[in-house]
Amino acid sequence: MTLEQIRELVTVDFEAVDRVVKQRLHSQVALVDQVAGYIIHSGGKRLRPLLVLLAARACGSTGERHIEAAAIIEFIHTATLLHDDVVDGSSLRRGRDTANEVFGNATSVLVGDFLYSRAFQMMVTLDRMRIMQILAEATNAIAEGEVLQLMTARDPETTETRYLDVIHRKTARLFQAGAQIAAVLSDAPAPIEDALARYGNHIGTAFQLIDDALDYQADEDSLGKHLGDDLAEGKPTLPLIYALQHGNPEQKALIRQAIENGGLERLDDITRAVASLGGLAYTARLAQSEADQALAALDPLPSSAFKEGLSELARFAVARKH
Ligand code: IPE
Ligand code: IPE
Ligand code: MG
Ligand code: MG
Repeated sequence: MTLEQIRELVTVDFEAVDRVVKQRLHSQVALVDQVAGYIIHSGGKRLRPLLVLLAARACGSTGERHIEAAAIIEFIHTATLLHDDVVDGSSLRRGRDTANEVFGNATSVLVGDFLYSRAFQMMVTLDRMRIMQILAEATNAIAEGEVLQLMTARDPETTETRYLDVIHRKTARLFQAGAQIAAVLSDAPAPIEDALARYGNHIGTAFQLIDDALDYQADEDSLGKHLGDDLAEGKPTLPLIYALQHGNPEQKALIRQAIENGGLERLDDITRAVASLGGLAYTARLAQSEADQALAALDPLPSSAFKEGLSELARFAVARKH
């Protein structure tokens, strides 16, 4: 299935999420409106809200509360992107100039805070302490993940374990939270909630692994982001970590220097080395294994088109080119 076909399983919900997002974006401060609107309306795959909707329907939810929950997850995601592009010094996102490029770093950070806190205002309206707890913990973990990543930047000694810890926190936790709150709002029994949390964690990990591989091999136009953003900041992502372990002394020196200094002067050489040493293939294999674990986690859910949609989403996380 294509992403569009997966979306068609929940078209009505999906459109409702879009309406909620537009409504809740509103602020009386004109610049907030402008910047939040700029990033939210510049597209984006809306993968996380899609996951929330599918998970809720797969749990047999018939209500409307998961619509608000899906919008909350997209707001949190968007807030992290506004902050992340400042931290990463990125200038292209969703095929357009990033908000920091257009409006500056200060505006991006502050509007990111607006979106974060708007998400918490929306959470309160759901009036479920358990939802507050899951989302408070997830956002806290994301912040830790981004800081942990900052600490690994320009450090060629970064291990695979450390890297996996970073991506678990900065990315997988939000997928996990989205799947889990869908179960909670649907009053699903504990084993189903647990299964969906595990599904979210694994699909989120697969998703970030592929993101890090795409940074070295995507087509920039379909990705909508500049290639080499990670290398520019000296980020030791898995493709680099693996290549560093398996290169000859000359390749090792090249990669080590690239991590220590950042910059894109040797992007072509590094990209070739990462590919020929198997760094991309290894990362893809690990992503596949995470996606397989996400699929296996779905076992306890009753059969439905929505469960199938969740499976397809896990396949998309690995096969994606954008
Ligand atoms: C980008 O996420 C940030 C990562 C966790 C890699 P997406 O690729 O889902 O971003 P959009 O929302 O589709 O732009
Ligand atoms: C994104 O990580 C994680 C969060 C936004 C928390 P990346 O830095 O790899 O995402 P992109 O590549 O900028 O989308
Ligand atoms: Mg980034
Ligand atoms: Mg990235």
